[in-house]
Amino acid sequence: MPRPLVLALALLLAGCKPAAAKRHAGTPADPFVIGMSQCNRGEPWRVQMDEEIKLAAAQHPNVRVIFKDAQNESLTQRAQVEELLGQGIDLLLISPKEAAPLTRPVAEAYDRGVPVIVLDRAVEGDRFTTFIGADNTRIGREAGRWIAATLGGKGKIVELEGLQTSTPGRDRHAGFLQGLDLPAHPELKIVFEADMEWLEPKARSEMESALATQSQIDLVYAHNDPGAHGAYLAARQAGRSARFVGIDALPHEGVRYVKEGILDATFLYPTGGPEAVALALRILAGETPPKNMVLGTRIYTRDNVARGGEEIK
Ligand code: FRU
Repeated sequence: MPRPLVLALALLLAGCKPAAAKRHAGTPADPFVIGMSQCNRGEPWRVQMDEEIKLAAAQHPNVRVIFKDAQNESLTQRAQVEELLGQGIDLLLISPKEAAPLTRPVAEAYDRGVPVIVLDRAVEGDRFTTFIGADNTRIGREAGRWIAATLGGKGKIVELEGLQTSTPGRDRHAGFLQGLDLPAHPELKIVFEADMEWLEPKARSEMESALATQSQIDLVYAHNDPGAHGAYLAARQAGRSARFVGIDALPHEGVRYVKEGILDATFLYPTGGPEAVALALRILAGETPPKNMVLGTRIYTRDNVARGGEEIK
C-alpha cells in the first residue's frame, strides 16, 4: 500500500471510536461477563464484598463474574481495568483505591459503552453509570454526635483517618467535625490526628505516637474497625485505657469487638455487593439505572449489640 494511503487509513482509524466491548447473550450457555475490580483483598471488609458479589451472582446462571485484586496499588488497578475491558466484559464493577488515578480508566470504559458501577469509594466527575455506597459524611456526622454525647461534651480525642486520597476518608472526617460541633463544645478537643490509610498496623503505630505525646486520651475515633483495633492494641500495650469507636461493623470483626468490650461503638458500612449484582442485571436487561444508590447504616454499642444494633434513621 502506498505510504500516504497507509497514513490516511491510520488517521481515519485513530478518529474512530474504539469498538464497543464484545457483548454476550446473557443466557446460561453464553452468560453476561461482569468484571469486578477490587482495590485489595487484604482487608476483611473487601473479602466480604467479593464474597457477597460471588454469592449473589451464583443465583443467576446467566452471569459470570471475573474478579481482580489490585493489591492496594492504584497503577495495578488501572492496568486490571484495561485487562478486563480487553477481555470483552459486558459491565464493570469497581471499588477504586483512590479517586484521582482511577477516574480516567473508569471514564474510558463508560465512553466505550461499557456500563460501570462504582462501589464504596468514588471517582471524580460523572463519567460512570451508577455509584453505590453508604453516605460517609453522614456516618462521620453520626459518629461525631454519638462521641460528643458519650463524652458528655468534654474530653480529648484522637482521630485516625482513612486514606485521605480516597473519598470515604475525606467524608468521614468532614462529617465527624460537623457532628462533633467543636464550637458548641469548648471542652472537647482533637489532640492528635493522623492518616492511617485504612491499615491496622499503621493505626497501631500512629496510636503509639499519640500515646507518647498525649498524657490524656479519652477516646479514639478511627475511620474503620481495623484502625480502632490497632489503636486499642497500642493502648493496651502501653497500659493505658480509652474508648474506641470504629466503622464497618462486620459480624466477625467490629460487631465482635463491641461484644468483647474492645470497641465502644461501630457503625455499619454495607459493602453494596448484593445491590451491585442486582443493579447490574437490571442494566444488562436494558433498564435505565439511577446515578446514585445510597445505602443505610446502623450503630452497634455495648447497650444494643445483643439485639442486633439499631438502624440510624
Ligand atoms: C477496606 C476499607 C474499609 C472501609 C472502606 C472504605 O479497604 O478500608 O475498612 O470502610 O475500605 O473505603
